Amino acid sequence: MRTIRITGTGSALPGRIVTNKELEQMVETSDEWIRERTGIAERHVSVGETVVTLASEAAHKALEQAGKRAEEIDLILVATCSPEQYLPCCACQVQAAVGAVNALAFDVNAACSGFLFALNTADAYLRTGLAKNALIIGSEVLSKLVDWTDRSSCILFGDGAGAVVVERCEASPGILGRALHSDGTGGGVLQCGARELTTPYARTSAAKTDQKQQTDDREHYIQMDGQEVYRFATRRVPQCIEEALADAGLAVPDIDLFVLHQANARIIDAVAKRLHADREKFPTNLERVGNLSSASIPVLLDELHRQGKLHRGDRIVLAGFGAGLTIGACVMTW
Ligand code: ACO
Repeated sequence: MRTIRITGTGSALPGRIVTNKELEQMVETSDEWIRERTGIAERHVSVGETVVTLASEAAHKALEQAGKRAEEIDLILVATCSPEQYLPCCACQVQAAVGAVNALAFDVNAACSGFLFALNTADAYLRTGLAKNALIIGSEVLSKLVDWTDRSSCILFGDGAGAVVVERCEASPGILGRALHSDGTGGGVLQCGARELTTPYARTSAAKTDQKQQTDDREHYIQMDGQEVYRFATRRVPQCIEEALADAGLAVPDIDLFVLHQANARIIDAVAKRLHADREKFPTNLERVGNLSSASIPVLLDELHRQGKLHRGDRIVLAGFGAGLTIGACVMTW
């Protein structure tokens, strides 16, 4: 049976670190409140790095580790919800930056579930023979979408990119089970408007009031009902993991590591508790990087891999949730 195997990982974080203490100077908050409610102590913030430069750096490292030349790659997927440009897509820009001249390249936007959705898209391409290998990247510069005067959201997010090289193989067990879902009716819970909401034609034909203008300005930043997202995540992530495990014919005790989207330490605690799983099996890096949206899972995977904490044959669960609403889990053999 054809399946896929991750053969290389890489990540990139901007050099500038913003600590909770620094945020205390910007909004009415405290290091203690942020640590207690989220587990986050600091995050990396772009001072010029872009979704494409971070993605390209992570991609170079993943290719190097996989021992693959860029020209050998035939599919590039970039998961992002914070591109700098509408056109061309980030994946095509990464293709040009790394020299993957033979690859098909396009973006996937499923917010914080983006990497998982992209991984499963690549799996479908590889299993059906449409591609032999793929570069899958999650990359975000969320700092440009964050309202730095809103203390309830600006404390959460960071910038960075993670990449994996996946290759088709006949023997490896690869992805064993999955569960992916979207619920567009929950879109209002977590949203961010495009910079230009009205066409020049609409602007000239219908003058806006000052009040409407102010509303539009707010819509350009991430707006989130934090408690609702929290409830969604703590209820649906364990269900989704159980569903993926059932698809794989496995149970919670069979899993060596749960690599979850790094949104909030309390969410991870709650998921572990609901699954009756050992909390030690849920590694985190959110203390140092915050919520990296689609980059969250691949950055953590790369850190674990380079620290020697992933071993061939380990059974791992990847799980993410985010705007859309979207949610996904997949069970794989490393
Ligand atoms: N510092 C100090 N006080 C704050 C801060 C802050 N940074 N932010 C909010 N508060 C205050 C509130 O104003 C409120 O004050 P009040 O009681 O006087 O009204 C109080 O703290 C409690 O606010 P809550 O919103 O109830 O705080 P909560 O414990 O729910 O924590 C948080 C908020 C951290 C946002 C939490 O709800 C959460 O993590 N939700 C999930 C968010 C998430 O994961 N988002 C990412 C999704 S992934 C994606 O797709 C991008």
